[in-house]
Amino acid sequence: MVEVSEVEAARALLRWYAEMGVDEAVGPAPADLYSWTRLDPAAAPRLESVRKADAPAAPAPPDPESISTDEAIKAAEALAAACDSYEALEAAVKAFEGCPLKTGAKNTVFADGTPGADLLVIGEAPGRDEDQIGKPFVGRAGQLLDRMLAAIGRDRTSNTLISNVIFWRPPANRTPTALETAVCRPFVDRLIEITDPKAVLIAGGAPLQALLGITGIMRARGVWREIETAGGKRYPALPTYHPAFLLRQPAGKRLAWADLQSLDRRLKEH
Ligand code: URA
Repeated sequence: MVEVSEVEAARALLRWYAEMGVDEAVGPAPADLYSWTRLDPAAAPRLESVRKADAPAAPAPPDPESISTDEAIKAAEALAAACDSYEALEAAVKAFEGCPLKTGAKNTVFADGTPGADLLVIGEAPGRDEDQIGKPFVGRAGQLLDRMLAAIGRDRTSNTLISNVIFWRPPANRTPTALETAVCRPFVDRLIEITDPKAVLIAGGAPLQALLGITGIMRARGVWREIETAGGKRYPALPTYHPAFLLRQPAGKRLAWADLQSLDRRLKEH
């Protein structure tokens, strides 16, 4: 029989978890869901369905260890390349079953704002608020991002499109793994190509790494670079601090403001 004191102790532990902000049961480290599919393909009906329905006919894979990831990326590449409009790409991302993060997410968070805008902002991944609503940057960090953009005459309704390098919320808001960003990348590249912006604002270290292969947002911010998409097109890109970082470290806002002014100048050129 369970002692009353044990029940009270369990309740106290749960209360403590809730107060500490724990809102779901996850492990302490990112789980490599692709490796689970290697161990037991039957446990991955989503990847299997991608393989049958969407993957282009592929030669025998050289590395059986990475077949699931490779095929998910190939499927994403084929689907993204077939999209010629924002609406088609949004539908393709929403129908895609090759990213294991989708299993734990409530919504696909594709993009928000003005398709075809001359400014495209790319952040890291949806958080809890974004997952609930299905739009990027709607929580506290998103509200700060909106205020930052407004300071240079930018908003979602008229001249800015906002998205992320990942379309589904990672468990407990952990940083996306390299495999997860690799699977989403063909869609992100196609979104950039279809939007055809004058400039891409890269918000934070994770999208910096995913889009440019560079680590260290502290040194990289404020320096213009180029994103090269899968289709071989190049776009000017400016890394800056993520607004969530600025909420924790308001002293960084001075440098973020310098980045925004640089962005504004570039957008007003020609
Ligand atoms: N942080 C991000 O990077 N993206 C969002 O959509 C929300 C928070």
